[in-house]
Amino acid sequence: MREWTREERYRVLHSADEIAELHDRNAKSVYRQTYHVQPITGLSSDPNGFVLYKGTWHLCYQWCPWGAVHGLKYWYHATSPDLIHWNNAGVGMWPDTEYDNKGCHSGSAITDGKELYFFYTGNHRDENWVRTPYTCAAIMDAEGALKKLPEPLFGPRPDYSEHQRDPKVFYIAEKERYYIFIGAQTLDGKGCVQVYQSKELLSGWEFAGQLKVPGYEDFGGMWECPCIQNISGKDVLLFSPQYTKLPGRGESTNHNVYLIGHMDYDTLTFTPEGDYQYLDFGFDYYAAQLASNVGDPDKAVIIAWIGLPDNHYPTEEEDWEGSMALPRELRIVDGKLVQAPMAGISELRDKELPADGTLPAAGELEVTLDGKDAELHLFCKADGTGGMNLYYDAAKGVVTVDRTGMNKRFNTKVFEVLDMPLSKPLTNLRIFIDRCSVELFANDGEATFTTHLYPTEEEFHFTATDNVTVKGWTYKPSVKDDFVV
Ligand code: FRU
Repeated sequence: MREWTREERYRVLHSADEIAELHDRNAKSVYRQTYHVQPITGLSSDPNGFVLYKGTWHLCYQWCPWGAVHGLKYWYHATSPDLIHWNNAGVGMWPDTEYDNKGCHSGSAITDGKELYFFYTGNHRDENWVRTPYTCAAIMDAEGALKKLPEPLFGPRPDYSEHQRDPKVFYIAEKERYYIFIGAQTLDGKGCVQVYQSKELLSGWEFAGQLKVPGYEDFGGMWECPCIQNISGKDVLLFSPQYTKLPGRGESTNHNVYLIGHMDYDTLTFTPEGDYQYLDFGFDYYAAQLASNVGDPDKAVIIAWIGLPDNHYPTEEEDWEGSMALPRELRIVDGKLVQAPMAGISELRDKELPADGTLPAAGELEVTLDGKDAELHLFCKADGTGGMNLYYDAAKGVVTVDRTGMNKRFNTKVFEVLDMPLSKPLTNLRIFIDRCSVELFANDGEATFTTHLYPTEEEFHFTATDNVTVKGWTYKPSVKDDFVV
């Protein structure tokens, strides 16, 4: 693993020429995605500013141009007509003001019906590397460029630690107010959400208080990327708690969870109905963000980073890593979120897979099961050994995913085997394979499992027990590696 100095990580990008060679090199990787949004060079992490505006989806991501390292973060901007085909639109936000001198960190977007606004964290550090996070805003102009407001909307509160970031902005009609949720950490190291409110979008912001979440006063050390949305009359609060281990998540200290309950904006209390639940049971799913302005009270649209903070991935050797997960539609069924890929994704189906047990480098599998014990060995060698293996135990109602058999192993000390619990017998799986990722949707999305995976040439085979039927297709590409800076 390459060691980066602080100077290298925080080097400022002045012109596209400085990364043109890196882009060419990255674009040649066999692990380049073909229908997932990925960094034009270097590293992508959190999705930011995800919104539907005048018929176009806008999605930015945290981007570090220089390589597979977390350093000076930019917002890179991509657009899509349908959440399936994506265009590179160029750098959305450059860390070029005093307030964001060490990075434009995560945030969200909102439209008032006329303009499109982006809210982000200006990550300021002084010469002693002391951090001051500012909540800042930008407006998209007629050419699609994100123009920053000259001054932040507000700075950090002194009665919290330096961890105050990731503004999620939204409007509550009954209150005739805009709100911002900020992911934060108390001075005694507890994760929480700060709530700000204003009648106007770009001024008048005041601290309303800390969100009360009964039962969650001591749940992780920092709640990154909080989000809230009402779906079918229930409020869904999601966030990424850090600095804590949670049951069934191996040695990982980064998670993405949600609560379903009721949000009272008078008392700033979110009352959960039932326990927290994992958004995804896989190894690599983090910092999920709900899209703004979806316009359907019964569904939400979500996207997340395939990757985790602190983890390392094999393409680091090639100086790039990370990609976005597929956008998903969320609904509430039986007290939990049911997640589905966008219906239009099947338009990418190209050739049907031959019945010889080979896997596509990019494509989809439709797997039918009978609810009884079953095994599916994906990405094994021609002789059936190795691979990423799925074991369904019907008595326990659990699918165990074990990737220890892969040639390229990674994050071995964090986890390589995880369980995906199901509430119904397993009857179907949709599996989306792209060059360096696999996403499983079990039982029409009652549970999902997302992971990076880096199969080598000899590993594109699968085998399964007799009660498993697999149908599959290769996919037409829907992202381009255009070098737009
Ligand atoms: C989550 C996160 C955010 C922060 C951003 C910086 O992965 O740590 O809290 O804004 O990444 O890149």
